[in-house]
Amino acid sequence: MNFPPQFLDEIRNRLSVSGVVGRRVKLIRKGREYVGLSPFSNEKSPSFTVNDEKGFYHCFSTNEHGDIFTFLMKTQNLSFPEAVERLAEEAGLEMPRQDPRDVQVIERAVKLREAVEAACMFYQAALHKPEGKRGLDYLHSRGLGDEIIQKYRLGYAPSGNALKAELKRRGYPEDILKEVRLINEGKEGRDSFDFFRDRVMFPIFDVKGRPVAFGGRIMGEGEPKYLNSPETPLFHKGGLLYGLALARPSVVDKNQIVVCEGYMDVIAMAQAGFANAVAPLGTALTETQLEMLWKLVPEPIMCFDGDKAGQRAAARSAALALPKLLPGKSLQFALLPSGQDPDDLIRKSGPEAMAQVLSSAVALSEVVWRQVLGEHQADTPERRAGFERAVFERVAGIADQAVREQYRMLFKERLRDMFMPQRTFTSGGNRGGNNRANSGRAPFRGKPAPMPMRGKPRPSSGLAVDRLREQILLATLLNHPEILDHVEERLGAMILADSRLDSVRQSALMHLSHQPDLDSQTLRTHLAGIGYARDLESLLGEDTYVHAAFARPEAEAAKATEGWDDTFGWHQRSSLEADLRQLRETLATNPTEETIAAMNSLAEQMNQYTHE
Ligand code: UTP
Ligand code: MN
Repeated sequence: MNFPPQFLDEIRNRLSVSGVVGRRVKLIRKGREYVGLSPFSNEKSPSFTVNDEKGFYHCFSTNEHGDIFTFLMKTQNLSFPEAVERLAEEAGLEMPRQDPRDVQVIERAVKLREAVEAACMFYQAALHKPEGKRGLDYLHSRGLGDEIIQKYRLGYAPSGNALKAELKRRGYPEDILKEVRLINEGKEGRDSFDFFRDRVMFPIFDVKGRPVAFGGRIMGEGEPKYLNSPETPLFHKGGLLYGLALARPSVVDKNQIVVCEGYMDVIAMAQAGFANAVAPLGTALTETQLEMLWKLVPEPIMCFDGDKAGQRAAARSAALALPKLLPGKSLQFALLPSGQDPDDLIRKSGPEAMAQVLSSAVALSEVVWRQVLGEHQADTPERRAGFERAVFERVAGIADQAVREQYRMLFKERLRDMFMPQRTFTSGGNRGGNNRANSGRAPFRGKPAPMPMRGKPRPSSGLAVDRLREQILLATLLNHPEILDHVEERLGAMILADSRLDSVRQSALMHLSHQPDLDSQTLRTHLAGIGYARDLESLLGEDTYVHAAFARPEAEAAKATEGWDDTFGWHQRSSLEADLRQLRETLATNPTEETIAAMNSLAEQMNQYTHE
């Protein structure tokens, strides 16, 4: 039987070769391909490869080669139509013979795709015409260069009904344009009209990189900020990730993917050299999206704003992932400075700052721990028991038994540490390198191996001084919680070299954010109650005060503020210098324009702290 080629293509579009083959052959990812033991020979070492991008498998020992259809025919002894039938069912398509309407559906889908592609080109062209100048200026003003504008096919939707007029002139019938929601039905018998008007346009691509929908951003203030295509036969927003097709090569190269919150973040990240970024489409991450991410890499990095909304988003994706964890499969969380998204951070502090944020991503287990900690007090036996129960309730939600057991062991140890801190207390924590977000006492407490982005350890010189400054900054806040408003954002955004201090900082900020008018004494009692008594002892003593009288409890608030600002300036300068040293090294071996740009941006920031 002759199947329409579009029908077969649609099946290939919907199913991956690795998915089909993977049910019969255990596959392991290797770069852009998967490898496994050939089902066509009785081999001991794998010579069988699968390439999803190209859509085929190849066996080097038997020279067998083919796509999903031939794979089923060869391995299950099926005829071609039988293989098509099975795979069509799996793809959720009905066989064309049985129901001629399906052919129509597919032919219709082809037409819909053509119309969206035509619209995408129309918007792109309009951006470079006089009427689109405002749009182009807007994108430039947001720091986007022409190359990235081209790559993400950004455009401009003129006001009026320009799109409808042009596409109709080119022979696209109105009902097609309506079905993909490029135009809206007019109310009460009035004429239909363009859906997007006077907005900069972000095409949304399907997994193959074809535009299927749009997000249109208003230039300046107004509601909605982004207008998005509604669901259409081509576009199911919960099943797509913005930027995935363009990110894929980099995702495969780095074996890492970064999930941000918005269109602009993805593009700004790509322009700054982090091409492996994607975003859900204006909603919280869905289950389908999480599964898509896990098919690509074992531990995707979720990148959230450090503010309350960002923490809530982190909590939501943690809750989504927890029940589904499997051995080796998890999430990491990179928390941004409060109030900044990746786009803001890159523009304000440069790609190096973003690299820092990514390389200090923390494990899901850490995020869960901090969440429960943030929701509970643990200063009486009853509250401790309540806290303990909440911890294990979260653990109980993990479906996989092996992972659940590991979580249980980890949290048991943490609870022991917390309630009996003397037992394992080590001063200083572990220093420097990529581990600074973890205490590193137990092997599994560390976060997973640093991801292959840029995470070179910082040069180690000056660490003692850095630590002293961090100690002073923290001590000043603990003795003077009234300066919280003044320091919160900066203290929250700092990357502390010492993991123990990092935990104290986290907990202090957490307590203060719940009860902003907490006095110093109560704050310290809370912290001591959850296992930081020893840390406070060393933090709030002469070791600190001899270097910074303003940190003393009896110092005036104004002095404390002033001293804090000063010390923070020094700290920033020192960490920028460390970055600069590292960049100089990079420059010596790999002098790219990006590195030079990063150096310039660093130099600029350093000026800022010198002239203060
Ligand atoms: P944000 O409001 O954080 O936008 O929304 P942003 O990405 O930082 O945008 P800029 O920098 O102001 O241009 C994050 C994402 O939520 C969706 C979009 O997908 C956006 O990228 N969103 C937001 C909407 O769909 N509609 C809106 O009105 C606002
Ligand atoms: Mn933004």
